[in-house]
Amino acid sequence: MALSLLSGLLWIAPTATNVRSPCPGLNTLANHGYLPRSGKNISVPSLVPGRARHQYFAEQHFLGENLRFNETVFFTLTNANPGVDYYNATSTGQFMKARLADSLARNPNITNTRKERALQMRESSLYLSIMGDASIGVTPKKEAFVHIFFCEERLPIAKGWT
Ligand SMILES: *[C@@H]1O[C@H](CO)[C@@H](O)[C@H](O)[C@H]1NC(C)=O
Ligand SMILES: *[C@@H]1O[C@H](CO)[C@@H](O)[C@H](O)[C@H]1NC(C)=O
Ligand SMILES: *[C@@H]1O[C@H](CO)[C@@H](O)[C@H](O)[C@H]1NC(C)=O
Ligand SMILES: *[C@@H]1O[C@H](CO)[C@@H](O)[C@H](O)[C@H]1NC(C)=O
Repeated sequence: MALSLLSGLLWIAPTATNVRSPCPGLNTLANHGYLPRSGKNISVPSLVPGRARHQYFAEQHFLGENLRFNETVFFTLTNANPGVDYYNATSTGQFMKARLADSLARNPNITNTRKERALQMRESSLYLSIMGDASIGVTPKKEAFVHIFFCEERLPIAKGWT
């Protein structure tokens, strides 16, 4: 079992009986023990700030599994801002545009209103600011903060993230 220290809260990979959500942020919090590690019995108040984060991952459900990390989707993100060593609002916008085009083309049941767009923008702002510089919404590629957050659902403390 892989462990890392976070102010006394260990990152522990979920076990077979733990449940996880389509939201990497909530899963990361559960993996570190900020939310119940079981992923069960999470109270509504503890979820309210997190609810807005789900949408663009949840939207993928029709097009495949949305509970586990999806390499194809992540590849679209890492390919945004090619040749530049950071993600920013422009690359994130390009990622969202590509994901939306894919969903519109293949998902007959897509929900795509202002509400979903607003939630997706908030989700993107969240990872850009939490994993990078919140004042400018830029996060570096090379420290792999975004990679660790999405792929491992782990806070990248070991890479120097605070
Ligand atoms: C959820 O909480 C209730 C009340 O504390 C408890 O009875 C129940 O067993 C819990 N369920 C799980 C899945 O932990
Ligand atoms: C990953 O996402 C792509 C694009 O939405 C989808 O076609 C594919 O089925 C997904 N893979 C899994 C394993 O869900
Ligand atoms: C994001 O970075 C790209 C590549 O350097 C740049 O062209 C673009 O203007 C930046 N976007 C913003 C919003 O700063
Ligand atoms: C789309 O949603 C409707 C209503 O929930 C459902 O009956 C239908 O099976 C869904 N279509 C697909 C392709 O999933």
